Amino acid sequence: MSDAIRFEDKVVIVTGAGGGIGRAHALQFARHGARVVVNDLGGSTHGEGANASAADRVVAEIREAGGTAVASHDSVTDGDKIVQTALDHFGRIDVVVNNAGILRDKTFHKMDDADWDLVYKVHVEGAYKVTRAAWPHMREQNYGRVIFTSSTSGIYGNFGQSNYGMAKLGLYGLTRNLAIEGRKNNILVNAIAPTGGTRMTEGLIPPQVFEQLKPELVSPLVVFLGSEQCQDTSGLFEVGGGWIGKVRWERSLGFGFDPKAGFDAEDVAANWQRICDFTDAAHPADNVEALREMMANLQKYAL
Ligand SMILES: NC(=O)c1ccc[n+]([C@@H]2O[C@H](COP(=O)([O-])OP(=O)(O)OC[C@H]3O[C@@H](n4cnc5c(N)ncnc54)[C@H](O)[C@@H]3O)[C@@H](O)[C@H]2O)c1
Repeated sequence: MSDAIRFEDKVVIVTGAGGGIGRAHALQFARHGARVVVNDLGGSTHGEGANASAADRVVAEIREAGGTAVASHDSVTDGDKIVQTALDHFGRIDVVVNNAGILRDKTFHKMDDADWDLVYKVHVEGAYKVTRAAWPHMREQNYGRVIFTSSTSGIYGNFGQSNYGMAKLGLYGLTRNLAIEGRKNNILVNAIAPTGGTRMTEGLIPPQVFEQLKPELVSPLVVFLGSEQCQDTSGLFEVGGGWIGKVRWERSLGFGFDPKAGFDAEDVAANWQRICDFTDAAHPADNVEALREMMANLQKYAL
């Protein structure tokens, strides 16, 4: 058993914490001693309406259990207000869990601008706004932990979720970039792709499995990623049903043509198998590693 993970001096924002997976995160952070800002706009899964009671109920639950929490009813698109709530009540911000989300599922040929824009706004712009407002405080105190909520629909794709998948994999791009910028200030940034039985997945997952995919089974990973004990950054983790795994990029070793001699589409076709052959594949961890084979090809044909 590792040392206890505690957050006595830490302040945590969980967005979309009025229900589902976010509620479970908020409850678990509070149980570990964190002061928690329970943010939730309280709208529908489709992103319509607003209701303060969602966040208020979770705050009441935390307080009844002896924890410390305050509600925020702002949309994540007003991220500065959510961070201000943390500062006003608790004087600091240490951990941001970007969890709020909606669905506007449609096949691409039926997609309209409103569905595309709203999904982008809540997931990407919302996570940007909250994190952007917290960032200077984390830099100044030389400490921060940020968790973004991605999805297997972004990593692997899913029918009818082009808007959602775009937004969710966009958040992983944001994770990778902020991890690089945050490292020197001890701001560590990771992403999760959770699966949980919530109102978002009700009717989509068979009832027996739905029951077992308890949202609280996602939260221990998020509490760990939000803790001082976690020293990993830039990670992407699939999590649900009590199982956790890490995802990484894999790229074939590829095939190099002579850039000076030139090559055409037929040469690409003729070498397609080798281009796509994952034998001894590389797992580039950063841009330098990613460019290695390309640079080696230039070198090979230099002179
Ligand atoms: N449940 C799953 O299997 C699953 C799978 C992949 C990703 N996710 C992601 O996990 C996160 C949590 O989803 P969930 O399943 O708990 O769904 P949920 O609908 O139960 O929770 C989402 C919460 O976000 C809140 N919210 C929505 N828009 C908001 C806004 N603009 N500002 C503040 N709060 C807002 C909602 O009111 C809701 O309480 C989402 O980002 C979702 O995309 C969930």
